[in-house]
Amino acid sequence: MSVPLFDTGTVLEPLREELREAVARVLDSERYILGPEVQAFEQEFAAWCGTGHAIGVANGTEALTIALRAMGVGPGDEVLVPSFTFYASAEAIPPTGATPVFCDVDPQTFCINAETVADALTPRTKDLIAVHLFGNVAPIGEIEALGVPVLEDSAQAAGSTSRHGRPGALGTAATFSFFPSKNLGCFGDGGMIVTSDEHVAEQARMLRFHGSHDKVTYELVGYNSRLDELQAAILRVQLPHLDGWSDGRRGAAQDYAEAGLGELVTVPRPTVGSAPAWHLYVVRHPEADRLAAALEGAGVGCRPYYRTPVHQQPAMRHWGEDLELPGTAEAARTHLAIPISPVLTRKQVERVVNAIRDSGL
Ligand SMILES: Cc1ncc(COP(=O)(O)O)c(C=O)c1O
Repeated sequence: MSVPLFDTGTVLEPLREELREAVARVLDSERYILGPEVQAFEQEFAAWCGTGHAIGVANGTEALTIALRAMGVGPGDEVLVPSFTFYASAEAIPPTGATPVFCDVDPQTFCINAETVADALTPRTKDLIAVHLFGNVAPIGEIEALGVPVLEDSAQAAGSTSRHGRPGALGTAATFSFFPSKNLGCFGDGGMIVTSDEHVAEQARMLRFHGSHDKVTYELVGYNSRLDELQAAILRVQLPHLDGWSDGRRGAAQDYAEAGLGELVTVPRPTVGSAPAWHLYVVRHPEADRLAAALEGAGVGCRPYYRTPVHQQPAMRHWGEDLELPGTAEAARTHLAIPISPVLTRKQVERVVNAIRDSGL
């Protein structure tokens, strides 16, 4: 029995008929861009998040750029961002005219915290991108207490919760990606900006549509970046199931614990007061690549995601080449994602844990 790294097919199987109906509804409506499906999904998603506004955009990367600009970031500013994240978290910054400044993460949680942020703050820090990496919830309260507005990159954290609310409702604004493999994924590209700040919402709404409110007057140089009607209709079918799927992901992590995974590798530590809906279940091991080869040989899906941290990527070296980020280096060297999904069975969990044990590493 092989175990895939993730499993979207099984999860969506019971919804196939409803999804077909949603697609047919859009076809019948002949409205494809910024119509009733996007409007309804924005309202439903904002209510689910606990924010005043949700603005559908084309993908999670443009969501970040637009949200930063809506928060007032521009040329001459600096934006803090962790280096241990998907490249897009940092890539979204230069198009605003601002400069990325990389900060470290705690390798136990894979998230930034007040300490790693404080080390990187400068008088030019205008904003900070807190990534809820792998679904863990970065401690937004203690970071905001340092006095910098926070944009949450919640691309990997739909369905996670914390004692202060859901990711998305913790900072000044937040962004989501609906890339198909995400906890809430559409059938193409899609993204969302959420905020309870009226001004940020209004700016973001304008920026996603060429910098215009009314298609007559163009006040800003903006973007053509919209979630489309088909994707919104597909996401509306799935949103009511997201909390249940997230419980499934948490249950799988619990099953891993009960099967003794923590005795073989270092398991990710939820941040204080959080209940992550693990988008990826990422363990650490001093010989992660050898472990990966052994697991692949045993039919267990696994992969490292960010072996080269963002500040060492060719396009970013200009801003980060000489930086020493020990937590990032440790996480980058040792991490390995192992199978997780809302429908991972106990049998599959045992199979993964046995394969790790049998590797002898
Ligand atoms: C942490 C993080 N930020 C941003 C993005 C960018 O989202 P998208 O692929 O929708 O542009 C992703 C996902 O791909 C991500 O994982």
